Amino acid sequence: MSTSLASRSRAAAGEMGPTGRRMPKLRDPKPLTEHGPATILALCNQKGGVGKTTTTINLGAALTEFGRKVLLVDFDPQGALSVGLGVNPLELDQTIYNSLMERSVSADDVLLKTNAGMDLLPSNIDLSAAEVQLVGEVAREQTLKRVLAPLVDDYDFILIDCQPSLGLLTINALTAADGVIIPLECEYFSLRGVALLIQTIEKVSERLNPQLELEGILATMYDSRTLHGREVLGRVVQAFGEKVFHTVIGRTVRFPETTVAGEPITTFASSSAGASAYRDLAREVVARCLAA
Ligand SMILES: Nc1ncnc2c1ncn2[C@@H]1O[C@H](COP(=O)(O)OP(=O)(O)OP(=O)(O)O)[C@@H](O)[C@H]1O
Ligand SMILES: [Mg+2]
Repeated sequence: MSTSLASRSRAAAGEMGPTGRRMPKLRDPKPLTEHGPATILALCNQKGGVGKTTTTINLGAALTEFGRKVLLVDFDPQGALSVGLGVNPLELDQTIYNSLMERSVSADDVLLKTNAGMDLLPSNIDLSAAEVQLVGEVAREQTLKRVLAPLVDDYDFILIDCQPSLGLLTINALTAADGVIIPLECEYFSLRGVALLIQTIEKVSERLNPQLELEGILATMYDSRTLHGREVLGRVVQAFGEKVFHTVIGRTVRFPETTVAGEPITTFASSSAGASAYRDLAREVVARCLAA
């Protein structure tokens, strides 16, 4: 039942989509003959539980299916991204924390290959100390950018899963990124705090990273059966217009199931509506990056 519910949030090309705009016709991205340099995207929202980690894993997996080389960066001390890819963060000797804090540890030293075909810079609770320790560092906002620099030419996309805060770690992610994707849960309070997030993105763009762009707003956990869900989505489109992705992620229990399984929905339930939705998002993201 949850699958058919989610499928109602999808519409064919040319039809009116859930965001009230006609769905564009997007082809599968063309295969690449060579890889890199990467487009770096931060998945960011200081509100918790809105689908940042779920989107990082499943957008990454869908881009991988389209032949893109993808690196995922777990930039949340909770380590949920690592867990979602079947990695136990507590068993790791070295994580992204070590690359941030110790010059002798490169990103390559902590990089893991995952079963999902994506590479991962994992994190665990150690990363929570970085927020405090980085404060005293020179160029403290550029630390992640410096760590990622040697890897940029090896990938087509680097996706950074941010923690639910606008602290120094998130500022580091925004400073390293070319674009921000904001997942927004289709719930009444979801728009609260987004103005502050947009202001933060603008400040980082003015002061630290002029190339930073708002790549798009992604409506998540959408339930088309409720007036409430449709109203919230309508307000999001009213506020952000073309910045809102045509793709909308429906609410379905398949996503929590994938976390338990430690794999993306694109392999766990390959033909589910949730997997198709993330493939649609990947097509949109590639198209937006090509247009930029
Ligand atoms: N479309 C969806 N439908 C139903 N459940 C979902 C959906 N997307 C994510 N979830 C579930 O909601 C919970 C929160 O999702 P997720 O961890 O991706 O959010 P987050 O923004 O990364 O959270 P945090 O701010 O804590 O890092 C998880 O249990 C996840 O499985
Ligand atoms: Mg998360």
